[in-house]
Amino acid sequence: MDQAKGLRQIARTDALAKSQARMASHTKKFPKVIAVTSGKGGVGKTNIVGNLAVAMTGAGKRVIIIDADVGLANIDIVFNLRPEYSIRHVVSAEKRIDQVMVKTHHGIGIIPGGSGFADLTQLSEGEKLTLLSEFETLSDQADIILVDTGAGISSNVLYFNAASDECIVVATTEPTSITDAYALMKVMSQKHGTRYFKLIVNMADSEKDAKRVYASLSNALDKFLKTVVLEYTGYIPFDRQLQRAVQKRALVLDEFPGSTAGAALEKIANTLLNGKDRMHTQGNLTFFMNRVFQAAT
Ligand SMILES: Nc1ncnc2c1ncn2[C@@H]1O[C@H](COP(=O)(O)OP(=O)(O)OP(=O)(O)O)[C@@H](O)[C@H]1O
Ligand SMILES: [Mg+2]
Repeated sequence: MDQAKGLRQIARTDALAKSQARMASHTKKFPKVIAVTSGKGGVGKTNIVGNLAVAMTGAGKRVIIIDADVGLANIDIVFNLRPEYSIRHVVSAEKRIDQVMVKTHHGIGIIPGGSGFADLTQLSEGEKLTLLSEFETLSDQADIILVDTGAGISSNVLYFNAASDECIVVATTEPTSITDAYALMKVMSQKHGTRYFKLIVNMADSEKDAKRVYASLSNALDKFLKTVVLEYTGYIPFDRQLQRAVQKRALVLDEFPGSTAGAALEKIANTLLNGKDRMHTQGNLTFFMNRVFQAAT
């Protein structure tokens, strides 16, 4: 190993060791990082993330959303916000993370990824260190971090999923969405050793239909990917009121709190907040970002 690389590694290990020492001196809980992902695009991830954030904030949790969708980032649109900066400005050390984060009227923090997460493998060690220490400053500010990862099996989606405490896969009842959800879990398990996923079925006509999607995915996993466990977390019915809210650049839980989709999203938020932690990896957000970088090497 060349000397410079050695020194950089020492610096990174040092940043982690400092974080660990700080962790040991606190007895507080660290934020839980939940990634929301899908094989196929357009299945409702961004709306699910936004509404879960609203429901969880209503339940007294401090929530931060990371928009890690490097393709068509649009969490800001559903909240009708226009962020000026993104993680790109943090990477280039032009801005601190709290200058990049925008707050919704509910108090939810939104961190726009922009092109900042576009190619994590290309980041220099210095840029990684900057991100690690900036993310650490967020650890005290949230109980829950929701990550909108974007769709598909591109590397970035996989890195964020692999690094999160929980990975929620969103699928609809369409066969292509189901096969793509399976393909995503397969790649995650083969490339990153992920063995535990949660499923949300969106735009279903009934719970029976949603359970059918769950059954077909878990049957396929039982047959071909025995190490992977998929847990059913809930379903959201197809609801025109959600679409009406989207038209207004708003979230269904704000616009139509009594809607069927809104009620389903509240229920899922409660399930997620009250369910047992299977994978909650203890550690602050420095550790989360470090796991992202590790997945990307
Ligand atoms: N439960 C629902 N009922 C009716 N329509 C829905 C529902 N959920 C999502 N939609 C429709 O699907 C559209 C896409 O949703 P959204 O943008 O949240 O998906 P996405 O998975 O984030 O997409 P992308 O992969 O492009 O990021 C919404 O604008 C809305 O019209
Ligand atoms: Mg989206």
